[in-house]
Parts: sequence; C-alpha cells; structure tokens
Amino acid sequence: MKKMFLGLAALALVFTSCESDKNDITEEQNIVDMSDFYVHTDIGSGEGDRNGGSTCHTMTNLNRLLEEDPKLYDKMYNIEYQSRVYAANAKGPGNGNGNGNGNGGGGTGGGGGTPPDDLGVISIPVYVHVIYSNSQENISNTQVNSQIAVLNEDFRATNTDASQVPTEFAGLVADSEVQFTLANTFRYSNPATSWGTNDAMKAAYPPVTPQTHLNIWVCNIGGGILGYAQFPGGPTATDGVVISPQYFGNTGFVSAPFDEGRTATHEVGHYLNLRHIWGDGRCRQDDFVSDTPSSDGPNYGCPSYPTVNCKSNDMTMNYMDYTNDDCMYMFSEGQKVRMRSVFQTDGPREAMAN
Ligand code: ARG
Ligand code: ZN
Ligand code: CA
Repeated sequence: MKKMFLGLAALALVFTSCESDKNDITEEQNIVDMSDFYVHTDIGSGEGDRNGGSTCHTMTNLNRLLEEDPKLYDKMYNIEYQSRVYAANAKGPGNGNGNGNGNGGGGTGGGGGTPPDDLGVISIPVYVHVIYSNSQENISNTQVNSQIAVLNEDFRATNTDASQVPTEFAGLVADSEVQFTLANTFRYSNPATSWGTNDAMKAAYPPVTPQTHLNIWVCNIGGGILGYAQFPGGPTATDGVVISPQYFGNTGFVSAPFDEGRTATHEVGHYLNLRHIWGDGRCRQDDFVSDTPSSDGPNYGCPSYPTVNCKSNDMTMNYMDYTNDDCMYMFSEGQKVRMRSVFQTDGPREAMAN
C-alpha cells in the first residue's frame, strides 16, 4: 500500500515537471488516490443496477474491448490518473470541483465562472455516417442538423429546459465550453437491418480522421438499443459513437420518449470520459465526479424530485442517468472538469483542442 502510494507520488512529479511553468501545483495536490478505480463492470447480473436488466451498451462494449486488448486497462488507468491530477488543480475559486476520489479532492459549490484551463471554447468537427437499409433510416439533413443543434445547446447549457433544474442542483449546471460543427455527412446504402454493438458498422465504414473529428454512425443497432460510445483510450479504428436513427436529433424519423436528441448528448458524454451518474455500481461505487450525488442504480422514465438513494437526492436530470430525453437537462461542473481533462496536454483528445 505504502509502496503504491510512493509510486503514485513519483508519477505525479513526472506530470508536474512537464507542466511546471503552467501550473504551480502544491505538493499536497500532487497525490491522487486511485484505489477506487475500476473499468470493468458486471453487466446484466443485477449488480450495479437496482432495476436489473437494461444496461447501456457503452459498458458492454468497454468490457469487450478490455478483453481484446490487455493494455487498455493501463491506458485508461493513466487517463484517469491524469484527469484526477487535472481536477485537483482545477479546483479553487470559481470552479469548486473535485474528482470525488475520497482524498479531499475538491468538494462542491462554485459553479460557473472561468474555465478550469486556458483552452477556451473547444469546437469539435463532426462526421456523421448515415447507414440505411430503407428510406426512413436515410434520415434527412434537417434531422442531422437538429442533432448538432441539440448537442450545442446541451454542452453549452443553452437548453431551455435547464430552467427546470431544482434549486439543490441549480448552481451546478455547467456550460462545458465544448461545441460541435457538422463537417460532413456521408451516406451509405446497406442491406443490413441491425448492426449490433460489436462495431461492425465501423469496420464497414471506418472513421474519418478520428484524432481530430468526432465520428457518429447513425444506423439501426437493434435490440431496442439507443446508442453506444467508446471511451477515450480505446482503439482509433473504432473511436466515436453509434446511434440508432430513431433516437438521433429531435425531428424527422424519431421515436418518443427518446426523441429530443439526448441519446447523443449521453453518448458524447461517455466519449469525453463521463461515467454513468450512479457509477455502474452500488452506493460506494462512484462516477469519479464529486458534485454528482451517489446513487445505487439508474433512474428511468421521468422521476419526480426528490428521488432519494444512498441517503442523498439523485441528480436524475443529469444527461448521464437513464431517464427520458425530456427529463434530462444538465451536466454538472464536476463533469465539465472531467470532460475538459481529456483535451489537455498529453490527454487522449488533445489533438481536438486545435
Ligand atoms: N446507451 C444508453 C442505451 O442505449 C443510452 C441512454 C440514453 N438515454 C436517453 N434518454 N436518451 O440505453
Ligand atoms: Zn451510457
Ligand atoms: Ca458522484
């Protein structure tokens, strides 16, 4: 235990020395506790899902990638480590965020104010790959554009339903200062009617410059699955998010109650390293964000406030829960810090921050 502690402290010093002119990190902040880190989650066992059954296929996909590449765990560990060092340094007046690592990392409060870094507003160009087996699935440009508009509203906190956030969480609503522009839409006719979650669509239609562009495949996944994403650190050849056409955008071929474009908001959250709000486990398993209250499972439908789990009110209106599209309307300040960490120097999405 002590050995590991020293090892981490030494690793932190390496990070510090690379950035010594930018951030003056105090020694205390150098040490981040990684003892709660996990990537693999039990899926479908009812464990970590008080309602049992339904799971986000982002986690299924992650488990498969972890099996396929024994080095992925270490890669994600390092990304997490860097994220925690960044979060520890980002905290302070105006930010008030932490990494929720139980090691004094931050605390809540704050909200708004200056970005926790000097990257300013990060604009991500998006390639949309529409794969269709019938004319409905060949969604219109209007529908594609509606999704880009929703992403921009949600990630910049200009969504009008943010006004519904209860007072308890109102100060935590975050403008992530990440936005999106449509770079191109590619269309492919293909007889396949359901593509599954094993990345077959990405093998058939590979991502275009995924280092600098968010790639979104819009194709029927099947099995009632709305979408799935790949976390930072995964293989370049499969980097991006997949969404079924009925859940993409907020106009055209869309299906209630997932017809407000929030599936993409949720999946792009994963793509920027956000975990599910309940941490895919019981009360003590965390999403590594301190200002999102602990919960023991996902919420569905449109829960009324307050919904109490793990002795606190759930942030059911967070995009990283499982509620209906019109019942989710915020990212938190802590999630903002976590997302922005991936764009920092040596971060997994550094190349996207210009
Ligand atoms: N990956 C999740 C699923 O496929 C997406 C949940 C998105 N939630 C939403 N309200 N759009 O089930
Ligand atoms: Zn998810
Ligand atoms: Ca949390």
